[in-house]
Amino acid sequence: MAQENWGSRIGLVLAMAGNAVGLGNFLRFPAQAAQNGGGAFILPYLVAFVLMGIPLLWVEWAIGRHGGLRGFHAAPGMIHSLGKARWLKYVGVFGLFTNLGIAAYYCYIESWTLAYVFHSLIGTFRDVAPTEFFPRYLGQHANSITSLPGQASFWFIVTLLLNTWILSRGLQKGIERAAKIGMPLLLGFGLVLVIRGLTLQSGDPGVVQSPMAGLNFVWQPRMEGLTNPSTWMAAAGQIFFTLSVGMGSIHCYASYLRAKDDIALNAASAGWMNEFVEVVLGGSLLLPIAVAYLGLGATQAATAGGSGFGLGFLTLPTLFNNWGWFAPIAGMMWFGLLFFAGITSSLAMGQPILAFLEDEFQMDRRKGSLLFGALVFALGFFCVWLYPGGAFDEFDFWTGTFSLVVFALLEIWVFAFIFGMERGWEEITRGSDLQVPRIFRFVIRYVTPLFILAVFLGSLVKPQGNDWGGSLKGLFAGQGWTFAPDSVIGKLFHLGEPSCVWFKEGQVTPAFVQDLTRLLLLLVFLGCGVAVWWAFKRRAQGLGEAQP
Ligand code: TRP
Repeated sequence: MAQENWGSRIGLVLAMAGNAVGLGNFLRFPAQAAQNGGGAFILPYLVAFVLMGIPLLWVEWAIGRHGGLRGFHAAPGMIHSLGKARWLKYVGVFGLFTNLGIAAYYCYIESWTLAYVFHSLIGTFRDVAPTEFFPRYLGQHANSITSLPGQASFWFIVTLLLNTWILSRGLQKGIERAAKIGMPLLLGFGLVLVIRGLTLQSGDPGVVQSPMAGLNFVWQPRMEGLTNPSTWMAAAGQIFFTLSVGMGSIHCYASYLRAKDDIALNAASAGWMNEFVEVVLGGSLLLPIAVAYLGLGATQAATAGGSGFGLGFLTLPTLFNNWGWFAPIAGMMWFGLLFFAGITSSLAMGQPILAFLEDEFQMDRRKGSLLFGALVFALGFFCVWLYPGGAFDEFDFWTGTFSLVVFALLEIWVFAFIFGMERGWEEITRGSDLQVPRIFRFVIRYVTPLFILAVFLGSLVKPQGNDWGGSLKGLFAGQGWTFAPDSVIGKLFHLGEPSCVWFKEGQVTPAFVQDLTRLLLLLVFLGCGVAVWWAFKRRAQGLGEAQP
């Protein structure tokens, strides 16, 4: 099969930025910042970007280019080619699993944004309050576990068809073109909304205070975040999610580089572009507008849970109604921006799966993208159907929060200690247009892995109420340790649930849905593992793609 490459440098950087810039930048970031004390969040966030984000980007770009040159465009083969051990390829299973699992729920959110563009334009939110519309759209009823929402399913299928179609057109005509169209539009829409939002004045109808109060809240750095482990964990989690690191997606895009294409500067540019969009645009949109109308307290309350869905899908469309004739356009721009952010990311989740099928099973792009669409539909349907029971949140936790950290830890260790830092550094700097400071050799080897390890351990044992100081004191005073319901251990044992039984009064409980979802995810993981095993068996029999 012909080797594909990126068409141009600007196309590559836009595609990589499109990969990173996603719903996380506009919904998750403001919500996480608000939940973790605004300015107190920003400092750990920036430190995590420099000590963990940027080094991981360099490592992943390097693994990707290295693998691509050896005919591997998906994580299993790439990690396999970093050393001799036979188990290395199985580390790459994460790179398939995570993308598939995230795509399942991510494409569902993406489909909401498309539906909301439509409903903004036809003026739905003038007649129906978004607070009423949203649960109805999702098919939620009080006390129900399942739902089969007709409309949401329709838009979900439309979104998947769009993704499948773009993926089937190939790298340059599909992904690169989508990024070249989507990214500028997204920036344009964002800019218009930021200007409109920041020029709100205290006298305007409904406005209770200047939007600058919202900006101050995010932008005024406060030191206390630096000493709070839970702020660090939230900041590191956001860096992971927003940069799309620890997922196998960056690797895949980087595998279409040529041998001497620059990594150092391109990776840093795409990373900084993501940060610009996240902190400057993402930070100046939701929060200032919401704070201007609702005040800080109510805005923070609306970000509970940290996903940003409340502010994005309930609050904002409601507030736009204050903007008269501009309301439908503002709605179109806001949800259109989310849609472009979303689709350039979901394409980046599909490409690794396609690449794996192409490399290992000689499947052509059309078949590969259809299979990807079908898999995401099947998994996503599970999220749609069991949304009220909590299936969606389980997907998000295990694939979008937990596995990334595990994969990142494994890959950076393999890169720095099995592949070796000597060769690793050569990979990162070969052909580079930017002098990477030598201190990053040390950072990649020791600081980043320890940082990730700390995040991993922290998420495992996070204490009740997120109170690290008090819990540690209690531990030393012999009172034991109480795990938070959203720590990994707490999740496993359903500490947040009123009961761990699966059935109650003839009905299944959320605990049942959660365990069922976990079982499904485990099967998906094992399925990816078997696919990798089979692929390498074929290679051994000479059926795999010939190595160039
Ligand atoms: N970075 C994306 C965002 O900010 C989300 C994302 C998570 C992603 N995992 C991914 C993108 C895998 C591409 C591939 O919304």
